[in-house]
Amino acid sequence: MPLSARIEAAVSAAIAIGQGQHDKDAPKRLAAALDYAVTPGGARIRPTILLSVAMACGDDRPALSNAAAAALELIHSASLVHDDLPAFDDADMRRGKPSMHRAYGEPLAVLAGDSLIVLAFEVLARAGTAAPDRALSLIRVLAQRTGMPMGICAGQGWESEAKINLSAYHRAKTGALFIAATQMGAIAAGQDPEPWEELGSRIGEAFQVADDLRDAICDAEILGKPVGQDALHARPNAVAELGVQGAVRRLKDILGGAIASIPSCPGEALLAEMVRRYAEKMTPLALSQSATVSYPAASGARA
Ligand code: IPE
Ligand code: IPE
Ligand code: MG
Ligand code: MG
Repeated sequence: MPLSARIEAAVSAAIAIGQGQHDKDAPKRLAAALDYAVTPGGARIRPTILLSVAMACGDDRPALSNAAAAALELIHSASLVHDDLPAFDDADMRRGKPSMHRAYGEPLAVLAGDSLIVLAFEVLARAGTAAPDRALSLIRVLAQRTGMPMGICAGQGWESEAKINLSAYHRAKTGALFIAATQMGAIAAGQDPEPWEELGSRIGEAFQVADDLRDAICDAEILGKPVGQDALHARPNAVAELGVQGAVRRLKDILGGAIASIPSCPGEALLAEMVRRYAEKMTPLALSQSATVSYPAASGARA
């Protein structure tokens, strides 16, 4: 089965648990909101990395890998629902459609995000009965990379500090779930997660630079979400710091380092190929040539 089909099936199965398919007493709008948060999906990059690492390590418990992939995507999707709320970025669009609070209202957006976070851990606990040691480790890594002090909550928390530690901010906001992706892939396949941290961290760093580039130079219609947000919110970002071409060069350097950091495993060559393909996708020529904005912009005006 192609990875994308595995991921979609695993995410759907997880959402069905949260919707309580056989529980007619579950609130229907919140049940619908859970599905709204995960479909249509975005790039599904985190579960793709997770399953690619699991396969490179032998993937001897595919049901557990699938659950881990779904759990990670649930956490990511929840983080986007909360991130779009007026209390954070106040974004109207996400993945090409109205953001959750625009479609369902703020109370259900808060609750849908909360429910997805809790559901992620339930999915891991349910799938883990056959390999409780691996499940415990998966739960621990996902919790660490979701909350405080070094998960995405910490990342979002930096935006409320008077002075931002930029690298801690990016590591927690974006890098954390990429580290979770590589480490959870290894754990699901029975491997030690420790050697996989560097790969996740480097992919996360590259992703952040690519995201900064997209935010600065792409169209909202293409991305399906608002652009120019970093400048608008006066957030430090790679384009402001290095310029467009400098950021593209930095992206390539980081991805080269990512490939070099892949731990030795049976599927090492295939995994390197996956990162290479991903790198090409993240650095399309168009991205580096379509710069229309000039940074740094003091108050965030886009040219
Ligand atoms: C967006 O992540 C949020 C960031 C961490 C910058 P993605 O670009 O992976 O979002 P989707 O899942 O593809 O929509
Ligand atoms: C979202 O970051 C990251 C998390 C929700 C943890 P951003 O606010 O930079 O990403 P987009 O542009 O809304 O996707
Ligand atoms: Mg944000
Ligand atoms: Mg945002």
